[in-house]
Amino acid sequence: MALSRLLIEHFRNLTAVDLELDHGFNFLVGANGSGKTSLLEAIFYLGHGRSFKSAVTNRIISYEQPHFLLHGRIQEQQHQWSVGLQKLRQGNTIVKINGEDGNKIADLAHLLPMQIITPEGLTLLNGGPSYRRAFLDWGLFHHQSGFHTAWSNLHRLLKQRNAALFQTSNYQALKIWDMELVKLAHQVSQWRENYAEALRPEIEKTCAQFLPELEIQVSFHQGWEKEADYGDILMRNFERDKAIGYTLSGPQKADFRFKANGLPVEDVLSRGQLKLLMCALRLAQGEHLMAQKNRHCIFLIDDFASELDETKRGLLAERLQSSGSQVFVSAITHEQLTQMQPKKHRTFCVNNGNIMPV
Ligand SMILES: Nc1ncnc2c1ncn2[C@@H]1O[C@H](COP(=O)(O)OP(=O)(O)OP(=O)(O)O)[C@@H](O)[C@H]1O
Ligand SMILES: [Mg+2]
Repeated sequence: MALSRLLIEHFRNLTAVDLELDHGFNFLVGANGSGKTSLLEAIFYLGHGRSFKSAVTNRIISYEQPHFLLHGRIQEQQHQWSVGLQKLRQGNTIVKINGEDGNKIADLAHLLPMQIITPEGLTLLNGGPSYRRAFLDWGLFHHQSGFHTAWSNLHRLLKQRNAALFQTSNYQALKIWDMELVKLAHQVSQWRENYAEALRPEIEKTCAQFLPELEIQVSFHQGWEKEADYGDILMRNFERDKAIGYTLSGPQKADFRFKANGLPVEDVLSRGQLKLLMCALRLAQGEHLMAQKNRHCIFLIDDFASELDETKRGLLAERLQSSGSQVFVSAITHEQLTQMQPKKHRTFCVNNGNIMPV
C-alpha cells in the first residue's frame, strides 16, 4: 500500500501542495520551520483523523483560513482508492472515499496503516500507559476483526459506569451493566495479550539487531490482578470506585512494559537507545502486519538523524529499505540522509511551505 499522490490545502504553513510520490522512499529536506513535520502531520492526519502534535484542530488549519483539505490517491496491488478529509474551523469533519460521503475515520484508518517515528514519539517508552495501549490497539485494529466495535462499546460502557457511580449507593443497581462490561473486558484483554505474544518474536529479533548490548524484556499487564475474576474486582471495589468517582481497575489501565536487563527502559536507556527501541517496536509492528496480513504500512520518519550515530542511522535505513514499504523521511540537510541509499526514491525540497521535487 502506498500513497501515489497527495494534495494539501491550508494545513499549517502548507497553503497549496500537490505531490506525485514515490512508492519507495520520499525525502523531505528543508530548514527549520519550512514545513517538513507539517507534511508528515498531514499524511498522519489523513490516516487517523487526528494529529500526532496538536489536539486542537483549529491550530492546524492555516491562520485565518476556514478549513483544511487533504486528498490522497492510494494504491495497493491492483486496487486504487481516492480519499479525502476536510476539517472545518466550526468543527465538522467530512470524509470521502472514492467520492462518496458518509465514511468514518475508521474507514480511512483501515485503508492507510501507518507507523510514525518522531523525536516526540519517545512517549511510547517514557510516557504513560495510554501510549503503549494505543500501540497494542493499533495492531488489533488492523489484525482483529471485531476489535474496533468491542473497544468502542467498552469505552462507552465505562463512561456510563463512571457516571452511574455518582448516582447509586447500591452495587446491585450496577451489576446488570457490569456483566456486559466484564464480557467485553475479558475479550479485549485476551486479544491484547495474544497480540502482544504474537509480536514478541518480531520485537526480540529487531531489538537484537538495534540494541545488541541490551536484553529487552516485554510484558503485558491487563489492568487488573492476573488470576482474579474481573466481575469480582468490580464488585469488591465498588465503594472505592464510588469514592474516587471512576473505575480504577480494568482494560482501561492495561500496559505493555519494557525492561532492559531487568530495569525499566525509561530509567536506564540513553536517548539514542530509547529512540532505537521505539524504532524497533514500530518496525516490528509494521513487519508483523506485512507477515500476517500481506499489507504494507507507510513509515513516517521525522528528523531521521536526531539522536542517532552513523552506525545506527545505517541500521535503521537498512531495515526500512528491506521492509519494502513506502517511507517518508525528513532531514535538515541532504548529508543527514547519506546512510539512506534506497533503489527508488524522490527528494523534495521544503522551503517556507512550498514543496518542490528536486
Ligand atoms: N496554523 C498554522 N498556520 C500557518 N502556519 C503555521 C500554523 N501552525 C504552525 N505554523 C508554522 O508552520 C511552519 C512549519 O513548521 P514545521 O514544524 O512543519 O517545520 P519543520 O520543517 O518540521 O521544522 P524543524 O526542522 O524545525 O522541525 C512553522 O513556521 C510554524 O510556525
Ligand atoms: Mg520538524
